[in-house]
Amino acid sequence: MKVLLQGGCVVTADSEQDADVLIDGERIAAIAPGLDDAAVDRVIDARGCYVLPGGVDPHTHLDMPWGDTSTCDDFTSGTTAAVCGGTTTIVDFCVQRPGQRIADALEEWHAKLERTPPLADVGFHIAVTDLGVPHAEADLAAAVAAGVTSFKLFMAYKGSLMVDDETLFRTMRLAADHGALVLVHAENGGVVEVLVGEALARGHVEPRWHGLTRPPAVEAEATARAIALAAIAGCDLYVVHVSCAESLAPVAAARSAGTRVWGETCPQYLLVDESALDAPGFEGAKAVFTPPPRAPEQQQHLWRALAADELSVVSTDHCPYTFAEQKALGRGDFSRIPNGAPGIEHRLALMHEFGVRGGRFDRSRLVALLATNPAKLFGLYPRKGTLAPGSDADVVIFDPDVEHVCSVAGHHSNVDYCLYEGTPVRGMPRTVLLRGTVVVEDGEPLRRAGHGQFAPRSSVRWP
Ligand code: URP
Ligand code: ZN
Ligand code: ZN
Repeated sequence: MKVLLQGGCVVTADSEQDADVLIDGERIAAIAPGLDDAAVDRVIDARGCYVLPGGVDPHTHLDMPWGDTSTCDDFTSGTTAAVCGGTTTIVDFCVQRPGQRIADALEEWHAKLERTPPLADVGFHIAVTDLGVPHAEADLAAAVAAGVTSFKLFMAYKGSLMVDDETLFRTMRLAADHGALVLVHAENGGVVEVLVGEALARGHVEPRWHGLTRPPAVEAEATARAIALAAIAGCDLYVVHVSCAESLAPVAAARSAGTRVWGETCPQYLLVDESALDAPGFEGAKAVFTPPPRAPEQQQHLWRALAADELSVVSTDHCPYTFAEQKALGRGDFSRIPNGAPGIEHRLALMHEFGVRGGRFDRSRLVALLATNPAKLFGLYPRKGTLAPGSDADVVIFDPDVEHVCSVAGHHSNVDYCLYEGTPVRGMPRTVLLRGTVVVEDGEPLRRAGHGQFAPRSSVRWP
């Protein structure tokens, strides 16, 4: 099947040009002005629109267990929301339960993909929680060979996901040996544990205490420690969800020293501030994510860092829990509110509105932050993350003039609230193709669950 995307403005991380895009099967065949439409099966009118590479979101949590519950999007609902928002590839976390063989954890996550077929392509990181299990090193090496080329370590969430420095460092060594990228959730989990215990002992139970017990210094200390340990281990390091100037500083310093360290932030740190935790009633629970929303003045540092390449990626950390039932588990004790917020569907529209329209960066930088850089860092480039002959035909036709209001009404996630409720944006994905197949038309998903597939990744990281 040949498809021609006609008359749009093709935007990549390094250029913009008025051109047609010819798709042959699953791949892009040609990009040039005035391509012949005689021998194609379908012409899609892209006039007045931007033609962008499909987004790559390297930080999502679909069907992820948390205590006695799990995030409320499975791979079908979560990736339906993703493609509607212009994201055609996600990299999600396969989480090893302590005591579980790493190979078994991966098998479990592949079974989830089978049970709930995705609309987007899906890669996995492996979240290591226990290196003391049998065959840990061999299983990690096999995971890399099978396309799971990044290892995640949580330096917080004591008693569940958190690893000690020995496990962190040993995993970093293994990553260096096998060419994997190390991701860290950088917060000092021991200090958080003490601060949370003290707050609860004083009767402080409201959502706002989630923020007060995780101050920026807790994140900054762990970020600097992870960077120091990665340098000793000789591995590449990616710091997830940088939320404040204090943790940005060590990332920026490492990068300007030429170290192989990268950082991401997420829309919630750019657009939601700590006042959201003070919302009346129990509404603040909607903004209980970790690290917590920060003081409003932090946001300008993150925007500047995105433009200056101190931060390389905007991911979503989509981690949805329903307000009515799941967030409610923490009424009367903020430490029991499941941590996480939804956002998988809103990344492109929000970053276009507040990044590009807001004058903080241009469209090519938008493409770099949402598609090209994550594809390069996570071993998907040039198959994903760009528009070029030979690349997968993962394409977003983005209409910059559509007016839309972010809302739970009409979004495609299972979650029962929208973190950006009532936020107006101008510009939305109109048509989305995954490997040459239209998966979103006029902003709505074509329910072809199963078109997405597991995306094995290489351990090549582009500069
Ligand atoms: O609150 C968050 N971010 N929940 C998801 C797990 C994590 O820390 O990324
Ligand atoms: Zn995290
Ligand atoms: Zn996360």
